[in-house]
Amino acid sequence: MSLLRQPILLLARSSRVKKLVSTMPVSADIVTSYVPGETTESAVEATARLADDGLRVTLDFLGEDTLDVEQADKTVAAYLEALQQLAARGLTRNAEVSVKLSAIGQAVPEIGDKVALEHARTICRAARNAGTTVTLDMEDHTTTDRTLATLRELRKDFPETGAVLQAYLHRTEADCRALAYEGSRVRLCKGAYSEPESVAFQDRLEVDRSYVRCLKVLLAGQGYPMIATHDPRMVEIASSLASRYGRAQGSYEFQMLYGIRPEEQKRLAEAGEAVRVYIPYGREWYGYLMRRLAERPQNLSFFAKSLISK
Ligand code: FDA
Repeated sequence: MSLLRQPILLLARSSRVKKLVSTMPVSADIVTSYVPGETTESAVEATARLADDGLRVTLDFLGEDTLDVEQADKTVAAYLEALQQLAARGLTRNAEVSVKLSAIGQAVPEIGDKVALEHARTICRAARNAGTTVTLDMEDHTTTDRTLATLRELRKDFPETGAVLQAYLHRTEADCRALAYEGSRVRLCKGAYSEPESVAFQDRLEVDRSYVRCLKVLLAGQGYPMIATHDPRMVEIASSLASRYGRAQGSYEFQMLYGIRPEEQKRLAEAGEAVRVYIPYGREWYGYLMRRLAERPQNLSFFAKSLISK
């Protein structure tokens, strides 16, 4: 892993740096390259543009780690508004939403799991009424068991709810086995948080090897794998494993983040693959932006220039 990854991820959780950086206008180039805007309208516009190119979308209203129930309520309202606008524009056939449980109350002391489950149910109900689905993002390892428990509860009423698993965790191959059943939508990513050696592979190659093992389990299984990576090698391996396991195009999908390798997103879609773009939007872009910078420290100088010129 890059030497800069850990320090940048530490900054991602610093409230002082967050305060400084968050005064940057959302129009700063470094922000708009990863986030289309702060409003629901900007996210829905970006969805419509991508749909014109044959791409699917998942919308993420930015925010995480809230300890405030009122803030969690506002996040739920933002999702309901997004679903309503997507439906009004006829976009829900190809656009769903991604939700971080910590943004809808999971981190609230004592009552967090209950609050997050109720809120997630509200969003799942609205998504179903709009003709689409919800995927639960996965956050740091201290929340994995609780998030999977909430997923199990939600799937009793909303079996279409998607899960996310992170290949950098030692446990994930086993989690893939448990979730590779019919109808189970599972997004496999490498993982974006700073995790200790006791629970996560630290070496890039080891993470990649784990990613491939997990891909095999998911593609050989009965579920619907969502292959979330920008890594050209992982995309190539996933494509050949899909053929090896007799998977038709459309019985799995590729996923990439908004603004990252857009030409590759289009190329895959033109080759007949299902491709979904994850669009984050809203004011709380700080933590998201820092995780993207940690993955690509080459962008740090670009980031520093944006800060200085504000
Ligand atoms: P990695 O970062 O290892 O990069 C490998 C190669 O990909 C690079 O060498 C380069 O070739 C190419 N590449 C990567 N970034 C690029 C860029 N900016 N521009 C050009 N090329 C680039 N994480 C998490 O913990 N919980 C979650 O819920 C999610 N959800 C999620 C949804 C979706 C749709 C995606 C795509 C990703 C996530 N992630 C996530 C993030 C994920 O865990 C991971 O941090 C990033 O996707 C980066 O890992 P990669 O697999 O892309 O490869």
